[in-house]
Amino acid sequence: MSAEQIYEDLRARIGHYTPDAELWLKAQLAAEINQLKRERNAVILGHNYMEPALFHTVPDITGDSLYLSREAAATDKDIIVFCGVRFMAETAKILNPGKTVLIPALPAGCSLAASITAADVRRLKAQFPGVPVVTYINTYADVKAESDICCTSGNAKAVVESLGSETVIFLPDEYLAANVAQETGKHIIFPTHNGAAQYDTTLDYQIVGWNGRCEVHEKFTVEDIIAIRQDHPDVLILAHPECSPEVVAASDYSGSTTGLIRAVETTDAPEYLLLTECSMGDNIAAANPQKNMLRLCSVRCPHMNQIQLQDTRDALRYTQYVVTVPEEIRRRAYQAVERMLHIG
Ligand code: 13P
Ligand code: SF4
Repeated sequence: MSAEQIYEDLRARIGHYTPDAELWLKAQLAAEINQLKRERNAVILGHNYMEPALFHTVPDITGDSLYLSREAAATDKDIIVFCGVRFMAETAKILNPGKTVLIPALPAGCSLAASITAADVRRLKAQFPGVPVVTYINTYADVKAESDICCTSGNAKAVVESLGSETVIFLPDEYLAANVAQETGKHIIFPTHNGAAQYDTTLDYQIVGWNGRCEVHEKFTVEDIIAIRQDHPDVLILAHPECSPEVVAASDYSGSTTGLIRAVETTDAPEYLLLTECSMGDNIAAANPQKNMLRLCSVRCPHMNQIQLQDTRDALRYTQYVVTVPEEIRRRAYQAVERMLHIG
C-alpha cells in the first residue's frame, strides 16, 4: 500500500480523534517500514496492545501472546521484528535461534517479568521438591529455563490440567494464579512476604503462587464495576485474567487479549467495557464502530507504549535492538515453551 492508501485507511479507522497531520506522518512512516520489511525479508509481529496507528498498518500478524508465539515458531523470514515487550521478543528468539530477532525499543519491559528471578525459582524448587513449575510467558528466558512448562493467559487452565499433578508451582502472576486456582478447583498459597518467599506449608494447598502483579491490570477494582453497572445495566464487562479474582468474578467474561476481542465481535450487548490496556480498547473500538465502548479511565501499559512507528522503522533500518539469549538458557527455556505449544 502507498502512503496515500495507508493514510485513507487510517483516516477511516481513527481519523475522528487523530489530527490529520499526525495521520499523514504515521502513514508515511508505515509505508517506509513496509518497504524496508520487504527489502530485509522481515516479518513484523504485533501484540494486540500496540497503539492504533502501528497496529493497523505494519504488523503482518497481530494477536495475543500465545498466537504470536505459534506464529514466531512458524515463520520462514530472516528477521523477526517484535512489536511487543521484551519477554515476547525473547520467546521468539528461544523458538528461532538461527534468526535475527529485533525489539524496536529496549525499555519495553513488564512488571510481571521483573517480579521474579531464576534464583527465586530455584529456591522454590528446593522448597517444594518434585512439584512441577508452570511459568507465565510474561517472564524472562532464565526463569523459563527453570520451569517445566510455560503458559499464557489463553491456555493457563489447560496447561495446569495437562500436568495431571495434584500440586503445581505457578509463577509469577498472583492474580492469574488465583484465577486458575478458582477455575481448576485448587487451593492456593502465597509467600508470606516477597523476597524471603516463606510459605505456610501447614495450609491446604495445590497451587504455590508468587506475588508478581501486572501494574496495569491491578488498577481495576470491583467498585469500578459496581459504579458502571449502576449507570449502564446492560453493559458487557470483559476482564483480562491478570485482573484480581474479585474483578474477574464481578465481570461477565475473562480471557486473553484475543479472547476479549472475539467477545466484543460476537456480543449482542449494546455496550461493553474492557478491563485491560487502553490502546487495545482503541483498536477494538476502531474495528467495531457500531458498538459502544465505555471508558473507565485511560490505563496504558508504559512498556508496550515504548514501541512506536519511528522505533520500528529504525529497528529495520539499523538492525536494532538485537535480542540475544545465551544458548544454555535458550535450550532449557525452549523445552518449556515447546511443551506449551503442543497443548491444543
Ligand atoms: P495476552 O497473552 O492475553 O495477549 O496478554 C499479554 C499481556 O501482557 C497482558 O497484559
Ligand atoms: Fe506486563 Fe502488564 Fe504491560 Fe502486559 S500490560 S506487558 S503484563 S506490565
